Order: sequence, then C-alpha cells, then structure tokens
Amino acid sequence: MALIIDGKKISQDIKDELKEKVSVYKSQGIQITLAVIQVGNDPASSVYVGNKKKACEYIGIRSLAYELPEATTETELLDLVKELNLREDVNGILVQLPLPKHINEDLVIQTIVPEKDVDGFHPQSVGALSIGQKGFVSCTPSGVIQLLKRSGIEIEGKECVIIGRSNIVGKPMAFLLLRENGTVTICHSRTKNLQEVTRRADILIVAIGKPKFINKDYIKEGAVVIDVGIHRDENNKLCGDVDFNDTVDHVSAITPVPGGVGPMTIAMLMNNCVESIRK
Ligand code: GUN
Repeated sequence: MALIIDGKKISQDIKDELKEKVSVYKSQGIQITLAVIQVGNDPASSVYVGNKKKACEYIGIRSLAYELPEATTETELLDLVKELNLREDVNGILVQLPLPKHINEDLVIQTIVPEKDVDGFHPQSVGALSIGQKGFVSCTPSGVIQLLKRSGIEIEGKECVIIGRSNIVGKPMAFLLLRENGTVTICHSRTKNLQEVTRRADILIVAIGKPKFINKDYIKEGAVVIDVGIHRDENNKLCGDVDFNDTVDHVSAITPVPGGVGPMTIAMLMNNCVESIRK
C-alpha cells in the first residue's frame, strides 16, 4: 500500500508550530506584518489571497490587504511597493501573480527589497539559494522538501527527477534537493525520451502543468511521486499533473490533489513571514 502523503495534516502541524513562535514574539511586544497586494480581481487569485489572509489570522500575523483596480499603472504599483519597503512596521511584501499585462512582473518583483521578499522570487533570493547562502526560498519547493522530510523520506543519494523548469518551482526545487544531497535531473518540454529519464527517479517531482499527464508508464515501481499540479478535470473535479488512480498502486508514496502540495505553499509562506522578523 502506498503512503498517501497528507499535506493538509503536515501543513497544519507547521502552522501550529508557527503560531506558538508568534505567540512568543507577541509576548515580547513583537508584531509580524505581511502586506498582500492584489491587482485586479482574477477569481483564482482572490481565492489564494483570501487563504493567505486566513492563514495569517490563524497564526497571529497582521495582514494588510491592498486590493488595487485592474487599471492600476505600473508606476502606481511600484510606488506602493517602495512605500512598503520603507515602512518599519511591514516585515513581508507579497504581490499576487499574475499581474495585468500592462505591468512588468519582473520589475515589480525586483523592486521589493530582498529582506521583505517572503515569496522568494527576487533575483537576489534565487541567487542566494543557488550558491547556498541565506535568503528567502520560494514557498512551493520548500513545502515539497518539508513533505518529504516529515514523511520520513530520505533525499540524500537518491535520484531526484523534476519535470518542469519554472523559476518559481522547477529551478528552486533543483537547488533545494541538491542542498539535501540528492542527485538531480530537470526535465522539460524539449527533453527527449522523457519516460526513460523519469523512470530513473527514486523521487519524481511533477510540475508540468498538464492535467493527469503522468501515468505509471513514467514511474519506476516503488518511487515517491510529488504532484505540484492543480487543475479541474472534465467533471470539474480538482486533479493534478499525475493520474492518481493509475499510479497509486505502483508507487511507495504519493501526494494527492487536493490535499498534497497545495496547503504546504501557504504554510511555507507563513514560515517565511515569521523568519522575516530576523532580517
Ligand atoms: N500566484 C500563484 N502562486 C503564487 C505565489 O506563490 N506567490 C505569488 N505572489 N503569486 C502567486
């Protein structure tokens, strides 16, 4: 029987540990504040932002919500970020992505000071991770590491294969697995003989962005499979990049969707907010 990795439970444990830390800070008169900026009202973004605010409330972090109209100019957004950079009572700044097309996302991310970059998207944060220095780490990949560690899955010496090379998941995931002494391969849309590569994996991380794309033909028997995807299937049910029903009896451990990686992203964001107090 495969272990179904319970991201909901593990994320709850992390949030409870953070709540405890925050209450100690509070008793010392220290308040942690996260500024959350959303431009426009993309429904998916509104759900994510709402969940982030709820998590802040649970843990005891103050959240400042900035809900800006779709027509906000790049200059207006940059001015707000610069103002929040300077505010001593703001520890973390999060700009929900995607932004409207008329705003340069890279420029916005680069304008957040690295000390408040709780998403870990700033080039300085990414660069620090790549050379093993301290800095904020992108939340989804650090959540994957926590899922593995807290499920007792050893990374050291293992063949770790990542499908997907995005800046916010695939690439930071590779550096984190490397930091844990895994042997790391990144596959992407131009990889030849994808199945041949993925079947080498002891730990397969799937962030490909295609619903139920990975079936058991891509997986070595007994491998650990982490599914970063989230989609709606033909019946409007949530599903991942992995065909769960096809693979569950073939693997030693797997994350479900929903209830796997998803809840970990917010838990790790909260972790970064608590860490931000030390920067
Ligand atoms: N949009 C989708 N995921 C994320 C995330 O982790 N952070 C931000 N800021 N925007 C997102």
